[in-house]
Amino acid sequence: MRSNGKPINILGIETSCDETAAAVVQDGVKILSSVVASQTALHDKYGGVVPEIASRAHIENIYPCLHQAIEQADVSPNEIDAIAVANQPGLTIALIVGVTAAKTLAFAWQKPLIAINHLHAHIQAGLLGCDKLELPAIALIVSGGHTSLYDYKSPLEPALLGSTIDDAAGEAFDKVASILGLGYPGGPLIEKAAKDGNPKAINFPRTLLDKDSLDFSFSGLKTAVLYHCRGQDMKGKNLVSQMTTQQIADIAASFQKAVVDVLVEKVRRAILKTGSKTVILGGGVAANSALRDALKDFCGNQTPAVNLLVAEKRYCTDNAVMVASLAYHKFKAGIFAALDLEPKANG
Ligand code: KG4
Ligand code: ZN
Repeated sequence: MRSNGKPINILGIETSCDETAAAVVQDGVKILSSVVASQTALHDKYGGVVPEIASRAHIENIYPCLHQAIEQADVSPNEIDAIAVANQPGLTIALIVGVTAAKTLAFAWQKPLIAINHLHAHIQAGLLGCDKLELPAIALIVSGGHTSLYDYKSPLEPALLGSTIDDAAGEAFDKVASILGLGYPGGPLIEKAAKDGNPKAINFPRTLLDKDSLDFSFSGLKTAVLYHCRGQDMKGKNLVSQMTTQQIADIAASFQKAVVDVLVEKVRRAILKTGSKTVILGGGVAANSALRDALKDFCGNQTPAVNLLVAEKRYCTDNAVMVASLAYHKFKAGIFAALDLEPKANG
């Protein structure tokens, strides 16, 4: 194991859902390479991720991704100090591909293995360009599978403050896009449609749960969109095919606004509870400009102003840079995994 002032290069691997990714990151911040093989085209016709298809595609993509990441980084195996892999949470049959690849490389190259929580890695993506983090901080991670708020004190132990009790924010975007016949993944397509829509056109519900709750619920909102499109009794025919582009844009904009309002309100509550000076935003839905802008306005309007750290758009959705970057902190702390590491669906 190299250390003593020499740079630390970590190879990160990510296969938790429908992106196969590998990256080499130096000292947690310098991105030497980042390769992402997206499977969205494979899942598009099903309107969501099909685990078996995802797993098979990971098996096909993992070797080329690893090869490319190492080649692009221009490092030899000797210059890699550790292998890091997201082993939780995610689809077990997808995670297992990355975990197996990581264990194999760690064994063959005699490198330490580092297990990474995928959601904690999304937080790290928001910290990539930040050299000074003002604590206390909270982190909002909004992805396809999770919506979670954390009390963030250090990279190693973010403490969960609240999470979704039903659908995740990204899942709601994907399902509403499917209802509107826009395709998959829904987030970017809803965002595009919403650009020409009126966010006040339809007053969709904002589910905030109890007065102080930091948990989330988006299934009622999704159902409200469904009723709006199919009629209250769901017996009417699907009205979407008869809608104008403007009507669809108005639904997309009104839905997006409802999600953003809920997320901003939960951030407000979490700041109040923790006295945080910084908000970190990450996960696929963090690529959404309406959410980024609303949180920027909100944080800027606080007295004193709250810092907002948002992941670069390319590091909002799943990638391995965030895995390798977070692993650097575990490396420094000497937290390594055994070679019998297993994937975990929940984490
Ligand atoms: O973090 P991520 O890549 O994967 C998971 O860990 O789940 O997040 C994927 C989710 C999908 O639901 C996708 O629709 C959503 O992020 N997403 C967006 C946008 N880009 C991706 N949602 C809203 N607006 C976007 N621009
Ligand atoms: Zn993710």
